[in-house]
Amino acid sequence: MHVTTPNLITIERHILDQERQNPEATGQFTRLLYQLAYASKVINREVRRAGLIDILGTTGDVNVQGEAVQKLDAIAQETFFNAFDHIGVLCCMTSEEVEDIINIPAQFDLGKYTLAFDPLDGSSNIAANVNIGTIFSVHRKITPGRDGRAEDLLQPGRRQVMAGYVMYGSSTMLVYTTGKGVYGFTLEPSIGEFLLSHPDIRVPEHGNVFSCNMGNYGHWSEGTRKYVDNLIAPDAHPGQTYTSRYIGSLVADFHRTLLYGGIFMYPVDYKDPKKPKGKLRMLYEASPMSFIMEQAGGAATNGIEPILDVQPKGLHERTALFIGSRQEVTEAGEFIRQFG
Ligand code: AHG
Ligand code: MN
Ligand code: MN
Repeated sequence: MHVTTPNLITIERHILDQERQNPEATGQFTRLLYQLAYASKVINREVRRAGLIDILGTTGDVNVQGEAVQKLDAIAQETFFNAFDHIGVLCCMTSEEVEDIINIPAQFDLGKYTLAFDPLDGSSNIAANVNIGTIFSVHRKITPGRDGRAEDLLQPGRRQVMAGYVMYGSSTMLVYTTGKGVYGFTLEPSIGEFLLSHPDIRVPEHGNVFSCNMGNYGHWSEGTRKYVDNLIAPDAHPGQTYTSRYIGSLVADFHRTLLYGGIFMYPVDYKDPKKPKGKLRMLYEASPMSFIMEQAGGAATNGIEPILDVQPKGLHERTALFIGSRQEVTEAGEFIRQFG
């Protein structure tokens, strides 16, 4: 009997196919994506063990620095740094976990790209075994000279050359775009390969899910509150009712919005002076997710203007975020324009 193996498209094959379509490709992208897939598999393995580490406290292992096994954020940070510092593709990095710009160690070659990343998104959900993720964003170097500078990282999101995320959920998925559509890969653990499972993801023009932390409702602007009031008012949208879903991990709330449609929002929360411009960080949360959402046919704003048009000023700059189906994001913007 002739057994046909399904036509499995691994992320490596997908990357090579994309490279072939891109005559000026130098292979630097390919190396970057290979390492992103590799780092994701390593973090995935640690995430799957996290419960044990938490239950047992530390595992009793001692790492090379002689320290007890660290928490997952730090493990994810270290895994990402070690996966990219030596590949000769980057000129610098920035991470949610590191205050200053991350330079490439002197012994390694410098490349022409920058990497901004949130090594572990949704950390507050780890102990509850709820979906968490990793987010990444790549820009081309724009300053003269070989060393990376903050200006190479502080670019409007519209100039990104690659963005993506990994979600560690009931299955582990890697979703990315290089500006030619959005592609989703699911990890097949038995062979350790990311397989193409969602070719060319498109967000629905409209969706009936809204996602936000209603605990902050009392501290939003009047326009934001009126928008949400209008979503749940019984007769506001004849023929359609909205439902509320909120996981508290951006990667998970975003992924559901990307596939099902609707809106995710983290508005400015006026109660907390530490978050004058919102909670989510521009470079490694809002900007990459907005690039993906626009590539999938959706929209992303800070309530006033497209996220991708904003010129960031600081590595850890925060922003409000309204992201999802074009219909819902546009309507939110109309309320904020009218009521502030
Ligand atoms: P991180 O764990 O990387 O700090 O990100 C947490 C973010 C984001 O994942 C999520 O959308 C948001 O925090 C949830 O904030 P609240 O708990 O305030 O709703
Ligand atoms: Mn995050
Ligand atoms: Mn994080």
